[in-house]
Amino acid sequence: MILGSLRARLSAWLLLPLTAFVSISGIMSVQNARSTANILQDNALVSSMRIIGEDIDWGSGEIVVQIPPAALELFESPEHDSVFYKIVDGRHRLLAGNPDLPLPDTISSSPTFYRTVLDGGRHVRAVVYVRQMFDSGRVEDVTVAVAKTELSRDAMAARLWHPQLIRLILMLLLAMLLVYFGLTFELRPLMKLKDDVSDRAPSQLEPIRAERLHFELRPIVDAINQCISRMSQQTATQRQFVSDAAHQLRTPLTLLDTQIQFARQRQNQDEQLAEALAGMHKSSRKMAVLTNKLLLLAHAESSLPASDEDFVDLSAAIAGVLEELIGFAQQRDIDLGAEINEEMRVVGDETLMTALLTNLVDNALRYTQRGGRVTVTARRSDATAVVQVVDNGPGISAEARSRVFERFYRASADTEGSGLGLSIVREIAHRHGSTVTLAPGKRGVGLVATVTMRLWSDQASALAEGKGS
Ligand SMILES: Nc1ncnc2c1ncn2[C@@H]1O[C@H](COP(=O)(O)OP(=O)(O)OP(=O)(O)O)[C@@H](O)[C@H]1O
Ligand SMILES: [Mg+2]
Repeated sequence: MILGSLRARLSAWLLLPLTAFVSISGIMSVQNARSTANILQDNALVSSMRIIGEDIDWGSGEIVVQIPPAALELFESPEHDSVFYKIVDGRHRLLAGNPDLPLPDTISSSPTFYRTVLDGGRHVRAVVYVRQMFDSGRVEDVTVAVAKTELSRDAMAARLWHPQLIRLILMLLLAMLLVYFGLTFELRPLMKLKDDVSDRAPSQLEPIRAERLHFELRPIVDAINQCISRMSQQTATQRQFVSDAAHQLRTPLTLLDTQIQFARQRQNQDEQLAEALAGMHKSSRKMAVLTNKLLLLAHAESSLPASDEDFVDLSAAIAGVLEELIGFAQQRDIDLGAEINEEMRVVGDETLMTALLTNLVDNALRYTQRGGRVTVTARRSDATAVVQVVDNGPGISAEARSRVFERFYRASADTEGSGLGLSIVREIAHRHGSTVTLAPGKRGVGLVATVTMRLWSDQASALAEGKGS
């Protein structure tokens, strides 16, 4: 998961070297701080050793040692280090100080630094040198050693490296935050592109717009757009083929129908032949209806999305559909009516909107039992017109309801039909930015087909016109 994440990988590329750099810088600043503290500590030790050394003198033939307070005051610190000194003469006799302080094997007149451990396990840093004392022909080597525990040295080193380390850690945290937010921000166009591609309906074949995308990503979008364009051409060719085929079929079918009708009108004694002719007539009618539906479906699929300028007078369209189907309703003894409270104009193409309404009312009339009732209602709801075709027929089971919009799917075998009506309805609604839903009627009786249509307004149309020009 993490290996596959672009954000994680880019972060790793940036943050791993940065973490390594911060670690190395941290180690180096600790080392620098320690060596600075060591130098300061050693300087103080040498100063103290020299002050003590300078104060050693001859007094009545004997070496007299006095420890000046300044020599020890040098080491005063909040950490209260323990300070030790040891002064011995040339015969290793202790003149002053701590007898336990070990001395190194080689000692010279220049300061020699060393680390040692006192009884009791205390670690100390020490410095030692030999001062030659001359007195009336006598020469005496006096060894002066000063040592101290290293509490103040450690504290000083910590005071030096702590702020630097905190600065480095803060820098690393800031870099992490910047990388996180920077990547989130910079990846936004890519995420938008992802949404744009994944939210697309299968029929949405216009190119992806990539104005705000980084130029590194443009070739990907160009490649996707080329693919979309090829798919779009392919789909258009297929639709054109269906449309052409349906169109080509229409003429011979009309001719066939006329010829069959002519043959049936001739006096014919042969009952079987008459029956065959009647069957042929029925089949040719079915084929003509199917061809027309295929043509309508191809037309709905290939039409552009409805423009905001075009409108349909809803009540007139419903009245037209009812007028056309009233004969069929009477034939089936169905009470067909409409309830429309106000004039409404909806956005859309008149031929397609009429086809949508015709298919819904035709279904209601076709599948409702004799003596039933079919009502078309239209009302305004916010910026939409809600049209409902309500019947009190058998309705559609929940299971079939999810499939009836599929092409050639039919839920009942008792009546004739091609199974294309609701596919046409859905395609037209889609082109108009409308929605179609099917639900059971009151108390679960019948079917309610609801279509929400966009209301047409002068302003929206003027706006669309302005954009177009
Ligand atoms: N008002 C309705 N009441 C009950 N069943 C319906 C209703 N409308 C549609 N159906 C069911 O949904 C199926 C699909 O309807 P659709 O209009 O797509 O096809 P069709 O009516 O069978 O054929 P076509 O409309 O292409 O002639 C129908 O076969 C029918 O079983
Ligand atoms: Mg139908």
